[in-house]
Amino acid sequence: MMDRKIYLDNAASTYVSSEVLNEMLPCFNALYGNPSSLHSFGRDATAMLDKARDRIKDSINAEKASEIYFTSGGTESNNMAILGVARAYANKGKHIITSQIEHPSVLEACAQLEKEGFKISYVPVDANGLVSIPDILHEIRKDTTLISIMTVNNEVGTIQNIKSIAKIAHDYGIIFHTDAVQAIGQIVLNVQDMEIDLLSLSAHKIHGPKGVGALYVKSGIKLEPITYGGGQERGKRSGTENLPGIVGLGKAVELATKNHIINNKKLKSIRDYFLSRVAEKIEFYQINGHQHQKTNEIVNISFYGVEGESLMMLLDLAGICISTGSACSSKATQVSHVLKAMKVPEEVAACSVRFSFDTNISAADVDYVVDELAKAIAKLRSISTVQAGRA
Ligand SMILES: Cc1ncc(COP(=O)(O)O)c(C=O)c1O
Repeated sequence: MMDRKIYLDNAASTYVSSEVLNEMLPCFNALYGNPSSLHSFGRDATAMLDKARDRIKDSINAEKASEIYFTSGGTESNNMAILGVARAYANKGKHIITSQIEHPSVLEACAQLEKEGFKISYVPVDANGLVSIPDILHEIRKDTTLISIMTVNNEVGTIQNIKSIAKIAHDYGIIFHTDAVQAIGQIVLNVQDMEIDLLSLSAHKIHGPKGVGALYVKSGIKLEPITYGGGQERGKRSGTENLPGIVGLGKAVELATKNHIINNKKLKSIRDYFLSRVAEKIEFYQINGHQHQKTNEIVNISFYGVEGESLMMLLDLAGICISTGSACSSKATQVSHVLKAMKVPEEVAACSVRFSFDTNISAADVDYVVDELAKAIAKLRSISTVQAGRA
């Protein structure tokens, strides 16, 4: 009976760290007030919200804490940013630029805007998953109001040139949003230095709880709310605040930022060791994504002739958890839109799997994973009709 478990799907979600959990626990019983209440319980709850807001403000170098709005996660933050800005500036123009490799929460929000009469340009990426500045420039029109480009791609880990793209946007008086859900803790995020107007975050990718996130909105940027009600979050996001989640988010963002250098050093050595062991034991594969301009957390590999889903399932039997494509679309069988945009041939994209590491992975874990990986690949190739060396 297999009881060893190795979780290599940290880009999908992470465990809640004990530091984060310990800060959250009092909010479930002792600190149960509603931040909107005026009595002492309400004031205590408001103080906790303020502390979390300050922590996020400091971590991303926002100018004011009031620029941080709490949400139910990355999906809501992206929807709030895209729908909110598009609708607030619709009288100025109805054109938006985004990329072909965005998370569905950006692409589907844009699809909704198309139904409302907006025009969306989906810029392509190169074979490394990078958006090019000339491609952005090519799409800019007089009626462009928003450019939304993700900081780090969740499937391949490629890091975009956000500062340059934001600068171009501002040269043309266009608002710039970035989905930084996979970036926080992996790279330094400094909204003032990077000229970011709106930035989306989520807690559960950085050892915080699920179902909570934040949207940074630079003061002065107009945003049409997407929910209506009691006017919480300065009228931008009605609904009683998820206090335990928000406290967890604040702590998780603070820790991810504070420990970013040491964590990245660890992740890099785990990733490099994994790749060296793969190179030793396995033949015929390609690594998808940029060679250098990428996070240390994510490795996306296509093992030729081995269907990604079958490999994922065989590894699962050995207690190893990885994913094919992104977690959010892994139940769908179509080929990844990200790899498609990177012009990875369909038969190679169908062989892709994503390993996403955490700092708790040991060298012995990596050895075990690569041994099981080699066995699973040999087994699948022995029954495959596709010749590995040629796929
Ligand atoms: C890049 C990116 N954006 C947005 C999201 C959505 O975040 P959430 O799960 O908090 O809704 C994810 C989650 O997979 C993501 O990877």
